[in-house]
Amino acid sequence: MASTLASSRFSRRFGLSTPIALAPMALAAGGELAAACARAGALGLVGGGYGDLAWTQRETRIALERGPRERIGCGFITWKLDEDASALDWALEQRPRAVMLSFGDPRPYAARIARSGAALVCQVQRMAQVPQAIEAGAQVIVAQGAEAGGHGMDALNGRATIAFVPELADWLAGHAPDVLLLAAGGIADGRTLAAARVLGADGALVGSRLWATRESLAQEGAKRLALETDGDGTARSAVFDILRRKNWPAPYDFRAIRNALHRQWEARVDALRAGPEAARAEYDAGVKAGDFTKAHATVGEAVGLVRDLPGAEELVARMTREAAAILGG
Ligand SMILES: Cc1cc2nc3c(=O)[nH]c(=O)nc-3n(C[C@H](O)[C@H](O)[C@H](O)COP(=O)(O)O)c2cc1C
Repeated sequence: MASTLASSRFSRRFGLSTPIALAPMALAAGGELAAACARAGALGLVGGGYGDLAWTQRETRIALERGPRERIGCGFITWKLDEDASALDWALEQRPRAVMLSFGDPRPYAARIARSGAALVCQVQRMAQVPQAIEAGAQVIVAQGAEAGGHGMDALNGRATIAFVPELADWLAGHAPDVLLLAAGGIADGRTLAAARVLGADGALVGSRLWATRESLAQEGAKRLALETDGDGTARSAVFDILRRKNWPAPYDFRAIRNALHRQWEARVDALRAGPEAARAEYDAGVKAGDFTKAHATVGEAVGLVRDLPGAEELVARMTREAAAILGG
């Protein structure tokens, strides 16, 4: 019953054989990973992240050379584009299939994305953000639950995937029935992919599970740590953003493996903010040494479902096969 997945509205509209999109993970979703996902029949989004032009150019070129270009797109952190959108402008000249924007107001970028012919994908964390995404002309909305790896909304504001996705599916059915919905946050195997479809999503955006593949640009030490970490082992806070000197606006924070340096500061975030110098020096030394008791390893709760580091094509095929067996049965 692979056809249940190949015939989802998302698969059909984007010419995919499986309703999976690679999350545009900053510094991890490079050209090789995006190309491998696209070859496997998924949508491969290069992680343009903070909008580094040279990185985006290098990795997008790799993706377009090695993957079917009609399944290659990219994603950016919207509030960083407000400072410098040159990487977005360059990416649009390459005619990507889709551009995903997260964490900020997508409307200032909507017209140029539409002119390029790319489909606009907007990731949201709360119902209140949805009308803005629709106004921007989003063809796809990603409902990101707080289980997700990387940035998302903090504990006061974030939603859980299992209740957020069906609520948003109902809203879209009533207000914008042509807009597609992807579930994100915790989708990491056939069960969770099938669950996304059952909850009313047209497909899934997968981050953490594809981070733990051969093609991902995540450091090998971080990937090995992920293999040893269960789903209890991540936490969401501002700690690593402060340590990394990333000026993220509220109410966004960051989920990663809850290592020793995180534990040292997680109950004293205000103190860390007020005097970060010593902790930053420790963090910088950890990054330099590849010591993940200090450096961050960015994965979500789905790390508990990561038990190997396969190639991305094999992983997409495995998730698809397992989900199809569940949905078919
Ligand atoms: C390593 C990593 C980096 C990420 N970087 C970005 C990013 O630059 N832009 C973005 O929109 N989302 C980013 N995300 C979040 C993903 O878009 C997505 O919401 C998330 O990975 C889904 O949850 P999952 O990790 O459980 O699959 C990142 C996630 C991870 C794991």
